[in-house]
Amino acid sequence: MAMDPKAVKSDLVLILDFGSQYTHLITRRIRSLSVFSLCISGTSTLSAIAELNPRVVILSGGPHSVHTTDSPSFPPGFPEWAQENDVVVLGICYGLQLIVQRLGGEVRVGEKQEYGRMEIHVDSAPARGLFGSKRVGDKQVVWMSHGDEVARLPDGFEVVARSQQGAVAAIENRARRFYGLQYHPEVTHSPEGMETLRYFLFEVCGVTAGWNMENVLDEEIKVIKDTVGLEDHVICALSGGVDSTVAATLVHKAIGDRLHCVFVDNGLLRYKERERVVETFERDLHLPVTCVDATDQFLSKLKGVVDPEMKRKIIGKEFISIFDAFGQELEQKLGKKASYLVQGTLYPDVIESCPPPGSGRTHSHTIKSHHNVGGLPKDMKLKLIEPLKLLFKDEVRQLGRILNVPESFLKRHPFPGPGLAVRVLGDVTEGNALDILRQVDEIFIQSIKDAGLYDSIWQAFAVFLPVRSVGVQGDQRTHSHVVALRAVTSQDGMTADWYYFEHKFLDDVARKICNSVRGVNRVVQDITSKPPSTIEWE
Ligand code: XMP
Repeated sequence: MAMDPKAVKSDLVLILDFGSQYTHLITRRIRSLSVFSLCISGTSTLSAIAELNPRVVILSGGPHSVHTTDSPSFPPGFPEWAQENDVVVLGICYGLQLIVQRLGGEVRVGEKQEYGRMEIHVDSAPARGLFGSKRVGDKQVVWMSHGDEVARLPDGFEVVARSQQGAVAAIENRARRFYGLQYHPEVTHSPEGMETLRYFLFEVCGVTAGWNMENVLDEEIKVIKDTVGLEDHVICALSGGVDSTVAATLVHKAIGDRLHCVFVDNGLLRYKERERVVETFERDLHLPVTCVDATDQFLSKLKGVVDPEMKRKIIGKEFISIFDAFGQELEQKLGKKASYLVQGTLYPDVIESCPPPGSGRTHSHTIKSHHNVGGLPKDMKLKLIEPLKLLFKDEVRQLGRILNVPESFLKRHPFPGPGLAVRVLGDVTEGNALDILRQVDEIFIQSIKDAGLYDSIWQAFAVFLPVRSVGVQGDQRTHSHVVALRAVTSQDGMTADWYYFEHKFLDDVARKICNSVRGVNRVVQDITSKPPSTIEWE
């Protein structure tokens, strides 16, 4: 259950996704203009599209060619429906080629393929079309990425911009309200692209803006109040991360103490994590949390386990069993079962995207299964409340700010559900690996904060390696552990680069670690990007 898109006080710009890597970026750019935007699969049915009642439909780019027989397309009847309902259509890249081909024009394999930066110039008088106030001959730099090109336009269309090589860069049919851009206005490599989108939405389409987080908050609270009966109780498992914290705070605002939060200490948490989470919840958010200390339960199950997938499975299973027990205890206390479970699912987890050609996949949810700790039992009786289901991470942070979630909490680096188990290579129960790692991690993170670097880094942590190397400390030879430091920059965790620290910073951190953590005599830094490596080590 989540907010009804129709309740948003803004026209909807619907993106039909044909698999471009930039599709989500279009959605985000439009939302940044305070206009509500959703993204659904490019091959959705006409009734699914019509039901959302969009004001504008954008056909995204994609890695396909309109020439292949199974290339994805909008549903039959879409152009007619758009016209009858005054819906404006904009095709971007592959989307433009779809418009041309499906409306009776011709697309051919380009003689000169265009990739990367390219200059385009306005070609014909733009009477309030895509290029509005620009004059014929005006130039701008844009980001191109296409092999096919337009050879002949459908009736009623005209070329309004061409690339410096003479290829069609923008087309429009103002009477039918169909528009097309061969380039990607949504990327920053098209410096005027954002202005083009803004002009298009507000001046050409007459879209009303009204998407803001205050609205979203009011709407979500209303939906939760309407859905959860006055006698119903709700459970929320807190991880200490941004998403579950914001979700819980929001639900608490809607239903008060019928929300019951649980935080599990699985023995795999960072230094003083339990204390920090509980303090934030009680002192700053005034949200009661039941803290379950399940350290022994988790660690005894993990004893001797070295396979990372196995670790994840065991941890997931234990989590579920603890949530079950929590539910039962609650039932005894309340005399009735809880009926809902809050989850901090975000929009990127639920967007159905068009899979790339040759992948053999049909539409699939893009949830990374290993990131969904354990998954939920199939026969689960609890109904889900997912108040963040339509939001991107930065929007969740904005919402959190309105809900007075402390800034320090909102800016926390992501932390994996299986915790330090995926940062201790090998058996996590061996020796005092977990303790060593907690101390090293704390020194590393604190140094990053002291140097003012925390917010420029996407994620930073230490890794415990189950190897010993020779060292010398106080005239004694030692045979102690090696720890690795990992810090990355990233947009979404899908790809990442390692962070370039100053040598002086690294020198200080390594010195501090070796001088204060017993059992460590060597510190190394991970200098690989993702790909080829991953962010976590296991
Ligand atoms: P990788 O290591 O896959 O990490 O490059 C990408 C992002 O996901 C986090 N991560 C996890 N989160 N359960 C989680 O909840 C997991 O099993 C898991 N593994 C990785 C990782 O910390 C990074 O932010």
